[in-house]
Amino acid sequence: MVTGDPEAGATTAMPCQSCHGLDGNSPSPEWPKLAGQHATYLKKQLQDYRSGARVNAIMSSMAASLSDEDVANLAAYYSSQTIAEGATPEQYVELGEKVYQQGNKESGVPACMACHGPAGQGNPAASWPRLSGQHAQYIATQLKSYRSGERANDLNEMMRGAAKKMTDEEITAVSHYVSGL
Ligand code: HEM
Ligand code: HEM
Repeated sequence: MVTGDPEAGATTAMPCQSCHGLDGNSPSPEWPKLAGQHATYLKKQLQDYRSGARVNAIMSSMAASLSDEDVANLAAYYSSQTIAEGATPEQYVELGEKVYQQGNKESGVPACMACHGPAGQGNPAASWPRLSGQHAQYIATQLKSYRSGERANDLNEMMRGAAKKMTDEEITAVSHYVSGL
């Protein structure tokens, strides 16, 4: 695997800054923060946009011309930055925590914590993403996208399986909860 150079990544990232921010913390809640995300996960996502495994009108075209070296450098650059913390509004704490830590045994939603970790830190070795600090709105959009099958680049359907049985209420609560972890 190519080892990324964060300094070269900073130069390649110039066209990305308008959406993902000067420090990897995107100004709009619709656009994901990339700061502090695991390099393994970032690399997989950029490769998936490039190959067509993950489809998004903006990102598919942004990733199309990136070389393997660019991808490795960009992943090294963004993963070395610091994510700005999020906060959980009080009304989402109870249900959000329950779904995150235990899932929903009746409907078969698995505990998110099992893969994304007790503090939402993910697992870099397995390219499982960090979720803590991410914009709640972006998280909710992704969960709905896995649920409908529109986002289908998760290996072994890990996330489509998790999201399939979630209600809108559970998605809203867990998205806000994990953003503030
Ligand atoms: C998603 C990187 C440019 C808007 C992502 C993701 C990565 C990324 C790694 C996936 C994040 C995740 O799964 O958590 C980059 C890089 C760019 C770039 C390296 C420059 C080469 C842009 C620009 C825009 C943008 C210019 C806005 C015009 C978005 C949006 C998503 C996204 C809306 C979510 C797409 C979806 O739902 O699949 N970007 N980005 N990005 N980016 Fe970018
Ligand atoms: C990706 C949330 C359960 C493994 C994601 C993403 C979100 C999320 C929002 C996309 C992150 C981004 O775009 O930046 C959740 C929630 C869960 C849950 C709220 C509980 C309902 C699980 C479980 C597993 C898992 C149980 C393991 C079996 C993964 C993996 C990815 C991912 C591997 C990356 C998939 C890809 O490449 O598209 N998760 N997750 N998640 N999650 Fe989960």
